[in-house]
Amino acid sequence: MKILRDQRGAFAKLIYVDPPYGTGRRFTFDDRLAPAATRTRRDARHASWLSMLYSRLAVARDLLVPNGVVAVSIDDRRVHQVRMLLDELYGDEEFVGCIAVRTNPRGKGLRRHVATNHEYLVIYAKDRRAPEVMRGPRLGPEEAASHYRHSDERGRYAIHPLRGTDHRRRRDDQPSMFYPLFVDPATGRVASRRRRPFIVCVYPEAVGGEQRDGVWCWGHERASRNAHLLFAKRSQRGVWRVYRKTYAEEEPTLSRATSIWTDPVFSYAAGKRAADTAVGRHVFEFAKPVELLRRLVEMTTRRGTHDVALDLFAGSGALAEALAAANAADSGNRRVVAIQTRDAIDVASAAYSAGYRTIADICRARMRRACAPVKMSMRTYRVVPADPAG
Ligand SMILES: C[S@@+](CC[C@H](N)C(=O)[O-])C[C@H]1O[C@@H](n2cnc3c(N)ncnc32)[C@H](O)[C@@H]1O
Repeated sequence: MKILRDQRGAFAKLIYVDPPYGTGRRFTFDDRLAPAATRTRRDARHASWLSMLYSRLAVARDLLVPNGVVAVSIDDRRVHQVRMLLDELYGDEEFVGCIAVRTNPRGKGLRRHVATNHEYLVIYAKDRRAPEVMRGPRLGPEEAASHYRHSDERGRYAIHPLRGTDHRRRRDDQPSMFYPLFVDPATGRVASRRRRPFIVCVYPEAVGGEQRDGVWCWGHERASRNAHLLFAKRSQRGVWRVYRKTYAEEEPTLSRATSIWTDPVFSYAAGKRAADTAVGRHVFEFAKPVELLRRLVEMTTRRGTHDVALDLFAGSGALAEALAAANAADSGNRRVVAIQTRDAIDVASAAYSAGYRTIADICRARMRRACAPVKMSMRTYRVVPADPAG
């Protein structure tokens, strides 16, 4: 990482971090990146994991372009520590989101009281206010079915209140977003000007219920242009409320991600299958689901800008495969840098009998297979310490 920092400076639009977890044994990391003071803590195992991550997240910040983001996959046991590290290094004002991903629909069997079936994707920006930090996702089939629950002759659609849903935004703050709309009480159709049969006048309600104190989330001009997407419903209290429709067909991506992702394509089982297929047999236990990483890549990088994603703990190379899939889907020219230590593979494992000797070998093989169909060229660098004793 230091070599990348010295030679390339800030180059990454996305840095993905899927750190190795504790397995009960003491962590032995090459801690040359860690500050010396953190090496002497009493709880050595814990401190060593935190130091390892702290030092890498610190250097990672220098590698991010101004509108770059860092995303960390982490479970519920360690998420609070990761949030604290990121708050300290990036600033809590740069917190973008903490997404709960259902990675194991049935739940893990190991815990006695709670069967955990999710993990987190914690996202921070280098500068949350910079342009094009992130956009919303394209939904998977199951999510799309539950998001676009209604249908009419134009297709499947979702409905959203037209009133602004931020309780801090009131009529006094945004007077131009406060105006009347007119409803045809027989059909619920909406018009931006009063004319027959649009005779019921409706104003935006503020969140919290005060009448005539809220704002619409569309300006008057947009509401008149898109009146065909609006409809009104009368509540049990007899109050008319205006809603807008968003059609699945017309939304290439959602405007924002939601914070719970449940599509089965994000399950670990899917991740394992993808890794097995990518290298021809079952050689890697903890591969991340490719579709999960593809969503992350598509939300944080763009197709024609040579954006670079950097994977700090590449493992089987799932992020590289996800990025190649994103490039294949939209003819993009994104690039990926994957870092992986030459951790030896257990001689008794299927991976060893398949001819792999280090995890980096598996990663390279997977990347080669993923990159070839989209004509991404690939180079491998081996980092050797200048002072082997150091
Ligand atoms: C949780 S796995 C990553 C899995 C990966 N995201 C995937 O989907 O295949 C963490 C990886 O980090 C590697 N690792 C451990 N220590 C490392 C270090 N100091 N630098 C880079 N990688 C390391 C391990 O070999 C392991 O493969």
